[in-house]
Amino acid sequence: SSFKIAVIPGDGIGQEVMPEGLKIIELAANSVGITLELMQLDWACADYYLAHGVMLPEDWKKQLDGVDAIYFGAVGWPEVVPDHISLWDSLLQFRREFDQYINLRPVRTFAGVPFPLAGKAPGDIQYSIVRENTEGEYSSVGGVMFANTDREVVVQQSVFTRHGADRVLKYAYELAASSAPDSRRLTVATKSNGMAISMPWWDERAKAMSNNYPDVVWDKQHIDILCARLVLQPERFDVIVATNLFGDILSDLGPATTGTIGIAPSANLNPERVFPSLFEPVHGSAPDIAGKGIANPVGMIWSGAMMLDFLTQGDSRGRQAHDVILKAIEMVLANGPRTPDLGGDASTKEMGDAIAALVSAS
Ligand code: NAI
Ligand code: MG
Repeated sequence: SSFKIAVIPGDGIGQEVMPEGLKIIELAANSVGITLELMQLDWACADYYLAHGVMLPEDWKKQLDGVDAIYFGAVGWPEVVPDHISLWDSLLQFRREFDQYINLRPVRTFAGVPFPLAGKAPGDIQYSIVRENTEGEYSSVGGVMFANTDREVVVQQSVFTRHGADRVLKYAYELAASSAPDSRRLTVATKSNGMAISMPWWDERAKAMSNNYPDVVWDKQHIDILCARLVLQPERFDVIVATNLFGDILSDLGPATTGTIGIAPSANLNPERVFPSLFEPVHGSAPDIAGKGIANPVGMIWSGAMMLDFLTQGDSRGRQAHDVILKAIEMVLANGPRTPDLGGDASTKEMGDAIAALVSAS
């Protein structure tokens, strides 16, 4: 079987980790009889913005016609494009136009990654964050009144829909229900003590959905204490579901507690497969280390493994390719070579080559 992948490296270290990701997913795919047809795109980056004054070509959707997935590096170069433009006019367009309403972020520790939590064992951390990715607090509804005067008023609305809440809750409950019997806990992030309209409603939707999943043990936790518990008691969690803003915060915090965000992957999913899904590392373009060839490529590579798994769902080959890549990542994190964020002195390419060699050998 063959899949068409749009490749968008983006800015900064996105361009440096992408070749490592591509090298490894191609090896893994070939080894299980999957063909990848790669389509390199040079938009959604600062250079394109400099040349054209916009982040995307007008016909970007048409150019992505027939694409099965998007493999995305990172976008953002604040010196050239304000961050709200680079992100809203590229990545957020993809998420919304392609209805990628699930942002799935697995969080786990690896041997060899310096572990920051005192009193915890690395094995204590293994959970998934499911973030609502298309609505909620990130809306463009609102405005500024009496601008630039002492009477200035700013309003930005949150927008929640029953359809939008129910589908992300359903996905999270399904994920918990299909986990191993001892890993079927679901935590619903909320703030119904402070946001007295939207969040009590969100809690109600979660409770209603729970009736369909008697095997899932669920609870709700306010976002503030939930943040504290991700640090103090990470062993309490299997699956966490959250609205857009809360999920965004949790999904940087979670990977940070494992030692580095450089290894964290994410999948922006349209589970119905009507539109392409997008796979990207959690990290951004890291201007502070860009151009040095020292970015950790693991987040990019792991995201690619998730892409292969998702593309072939229902077919064990994608899962097999995913598992081979994860094994290779585990081995290299444990034994080196490692990039400087992990305390090593290897380059991006050296770490990628080491993972690639293990994938080839398996
Ligand atoms: P960032 O994730 O780019 O960097 C945060 C810190 O982590 C930096 O010190 C960086 O060096 C380090 N870091 C990140 N990835 C690493 C890796 N693979 N290996 C080693 N170290 C790594 O976040 P920041 O600095 O807030 O944002 C920089 C730019 O990236 C901004 O323009 C921002 O808007 C954009 N951004 C884009 C994202 C995306 O495309 N999905 C996500 C987050 C930020
Ligand atoms: Mg974020």
